[in-house]
Amino acid sequence: MSGTTVNPSDSLSGIKSAGGGAESGSRKLLQPAWVRIVHWVNAIAMVMMIMSGWQIYNASPLFPFSFSRSITLGGWLGGALLWHFAAMWLLMVNGLVYLALGLATGRFRNKLLPLSARGVFADTKAALAGKLSHDDLSTYNQVQKLLYGGIIVVGILIVLSGLSIWKPVQFQYLTALFGGYDVARYVHFACMALIVGFLVVHVALAILVPKSLRAMIVGR
Ligand code: HEM
Repeated sequence: MSGTTVNPSDSLSGIKSAGGGAESGSRKLLQPAWVRIVHWVNAIAMVMMIMSGWQIYNASPLFPFSFSRSITLGGWLGGALLWHFAAMWLLMVNGLVYLALGLATGRFRNKLLPLSARGVFADTKAALAGKLSHDDLSTYNQVQKLLYGGIIVVGILIVLSGLSIWKPVQFQYLTALFGGYDVARYVHFACMALIVGFLVVHVALAILVPKSLRAMIVGR
């Protein structure tokens, strides 16, 4: 639970301040074990879902392109469906654990809030000017809060739209909420594209700030 210290109520917590306050040498726990476990299980499940999803998409493309076989999983439609549904259970159960613990421990409130348009704007500007400090990893800056909160919502949407196109009869109310089977397919694809876009930026930033990656692996 340490590492989930309540954020200062400001919005610009990531910007270098004159006083510094850096804790670069700090050895305090930044990512509790449960966060690390669900994060990496989620990453594995997501990659399996995306690669098998691309193979399923190739069997009936929505757009005038298909994905190269070299980046798909399953080999053919039947194999890809098996991978997709196997990883789906992992993703759903793991995601529910993350949501339940994130709410119950107060992590979402402490780490992802407060969030403001002004803060996101200021932190984006600071990041582009190279003035965003990564000294204190115990709080997320406003851009991180927006991206992490946003990707959690997209993660929920991709599961719900997936359920709608998997069982459109059993989940007919859910499918109708998306505007029908065809729209749910487009929503499912759009969520995948957002997750892939997030992943590219997310992994690049993790490599650029290796101590954040270390904390997500060993906790400190
Ligand atoms: C596979 C490569 C991935 C790497 C190397 C990676 C790396 C990291 C790192 C280093 C952090 C800590 C960030 C920080 O302290 O500033 C983090 C947090 C996070 N990552 Fe990833 N990640 C990966 C995949 C994913 C995927 C697939 C998702 C979701 C689609 C995801 C969602 C998140 C979220 C929501 C957080 C914040 C977690 C929290 O604080 O509760 N990551 N990731």
